[in-house]
Amino acid sequence: MGLMGFLDRLADVDTLDKAMEPARKAVQSVPSAVKDLLHGTWLGHPLHPVLVQVPVGSWVSAGILDAIPAMRPAATVLIGTGVAASLPAAASGAADWSEQGIGVRRLGAVHAVMNTVALGLYVGSLAARAKGRGTLGRALAYAGLGVAGGSAAVGGHMSYAQSSGASHAATAARALSSDWIDLGPLDDLPEGRPALRTGTGSGVEVPLAAVRRGARVDVFIGACSHLAGPLYEGSVEEVRGHACLVCPWHDSAFDLDNGEPRRGPAANPQEKLEVRMEAGRVMARLPSHNR
Ligand code: FES
Repeated sequence: MGLMGFLDRLADVDTLDKAMEPARKAVQSVPSAVKDLLHGTWLGHPLHPVLVQVPVGSWVSAGILDAIPAMRPAATVLIGTGVAASLPAAASGAADWSEQGIGVRRLGAVHAVMNTVALGLYVGSLAARAKGRGTLGRALAYAGLGVAGGSAAVGGHMSYAQSSGASHAATAARALSSDWIDLGPLDDLPEGRPALRTGTGSGVEVPLAAVRRGARVDVFIGACSHLAGPLYEGSVEEVRGHACLVCPWHDSAFDLDNGEPRRGPAANPQEKLEVRMEAGRVMARLPSHNR
């Protein structure tokens, strides 16, 4: 069995599902403004992959410098930097983890345990170095690097194979035709709430969410960027001063003007289509950057 198959098997193990729930509930009870900060909603980009660059980069660099006797004091500084930077990275990962499906949460728990072990080994390394036990300090640091590397593989599987951080709206948009799509008469759209319309392309139908406000219509890919929830079943609400389309699954809110997330857990924007009117009918198409 390959690594991918092993990780997929691991994501099927339900033994610890109940044990994970208290941790999930604790993370979910954090005020939403703090969680949105950790998700990266304010940035319009998931924050966790940005923050993990610091501990990973610091610890890999420390591993190289530890191999050069004259550079070992610098390695110690980098290990300390990585230990400090791992805390915000872990907090943002926990916020994302709490709003994912069960398969991702299972692997996320493994990822968290491995990262905690790696962190413990690095803290132990710092303690050993402080006591002048350099050989032990280096051994613990290299062990930490090995565990952190394994954990990164698990995190990569969550991101790439399980699409935990990907925009599900961008994936759906790829199947849509680049031509103008006729969404029917303007007068058929309800006022102030999303309606399901369908676009075609590549032989498949792509759900769209169309919101009419007077003579104005905003059209989005119907699958929420967070986990593909049905935005056309959502609602229109004022969120943090912006008129937003709100997802019915986890309450993410996307600005009707530009698709930017105004409330998480979504951190990716929602794909918005160009709209024009033609003889009282609504026409929409993907902007060129999505084609
Ligand atoms: S699917 Fe999670 S907020 Fe839309």
